[in-house]
Amino acid sequence: MVFDNLLLERESAVAIVTINRPKVLNALNARTLDELGRAVLDLKHDDGVRVVIVTGAGEKSFVAGADISELAVQTPTGGRELALTGQHVLDAIENLGKPVIAAINGYALGGGCELAMACTLRLAADTAKLGQPEINLGIIPGYAGTQRLSRLVGKGKAMELILSGALIGASEAERIGLVNRVVPAAELMTEARKLAGQLAASAPIAMRYIISAINKGLEMPFAEGSVFEATLFGLIASTDDMREGTRAFLEKRKAEFKGK
Ligand code: COA
Repeated sequence: MVFDNLLLERESAVAIVTINRPKVLNALNARTLDELGRAVLDLKHDDGVRVVIVTGAGEKSFVAGADISELAVQTPTGGRELALTGQHVLDAIENLGKPVIAAINGYALGGGCELAMACTLRLAADTAKLGQPEINLGIIPGYAGTQRLSRLVGKGKAMELILSGALIGASEAERIGLVNRVVPAAELMTEARKLAGQLAASAPIAMRYIISAINKGLEMPFAEGSVFEATLFGLIASTDDMREGTRAFLEKRKAEFKGK
């Protein structure tokens, strides 16, 4: 697959997607969003890919938001479509069924913060800055930032961040639960690859069920989410990986998971 604004690399079972518009700090224009959607669909169906890393080109920015030159001429109907498209792409990332690691190498603002929040896990460079500064443009988040931020950091902090448009540093983002871990900028991709490698050795179907149980379960009443978990817990017993994992433990050896 050839893209204008994305780089797609494969390192054995790990795919690295780089948003590649460094001149505009990797702002997401409609074309980039479309390419991201197509790349995500391809990675979802590629059984050879077990983990995905998403990052931004250059040293300054992960993604500095939606492309403001496009937003400036947006119509009401076009804006609705754009938001729905962005939400659809981010939903696909959140529910890819394999871990997606955001390697936040700089600014993650607006749509960039929303993209990072749709990922399964977030590693941030100590130089990263995150926020939802849409209010400064007289607009509001459109790629479900109001929804994901409040679920990740709680209603009060989400209100504060989105209403103020303030940018926060990586350590504050870690403190409030917006990122999982902060690492020195120079080590970001090494750490992301290390984490991806660990996850790539895990049981793929179990990972898919965990992601599904947490994502879907959070939208359900507790009791229904628990029943959903129990169903997946039962279903996992049909996999070769379940037999391999338990047998390997009893035989005191490392399990080799095949995703079957
Ligand atoms: N959309 C389109 N272009 C963007 C952009 C965006 N979201 N963010 C940055 N750019 C462009 C700038 O216009 C500039 O282009 P130019 O060189 O042609 O002038 C280039 O990227 C570099 O950005 P610049 O503002 O000069 O860098 P900076 O280091 O001074 O500031 C930011 C960095 C991130 C603080 C600043 O670019 C910014 O506030 N960007 C907008 C963030 C935002 O509001 N995002 C939410 C959008 S919904």
